[in-house]
Amino acid sequence: MAVTGCASSAGSSDSNSAAPKGPVDLGPASAVPEGGGTVFREQKIVVTQPTAGQYKAFSAKCTHAGCIVDQVKNQQIQCPCHGSRFAIADGAVQDGPAPSPLPAYTVTVEGGNLKVTPS
Ligand code: FES
Repeated sequence: MAVTGCASSAGSSDSNSAAPKGPVDLGPASAVPEGGGTVFREQKIVVTQPTAGQYKAFSAKCTHAGCIVDQVKNQQIQCPCHGSRFAIADGAVQDGPAPSPLPAYTVTVEGGNLKVTPS
């Protein structure tokens, strides 16, 4: 298994492997708890549900050094590498060295399934 760890954004000039294209089906919306969120590691997407029935999606790639955030706790998306924390409502930086919010993606629920369109 490839471990991307905290590698900085080397090679990001054209490959941009972190951003899948087109709508990504992430399965049942019920996997995302109200007042929390779920990290979809494989897709590098985090989906949150700040309030009942309102879903938000963000890039799971930390804006500090590119680690993939690993959990959502205390209403914050948490990066394991240097402790950055982002708000589940809008991806804003709440703590740590991250210089900017997590990029937001478009998320819809179709037939009970989450569809996320990375931008
Ligand atoms: S990569 Fe450093 S806090 Fe996320």
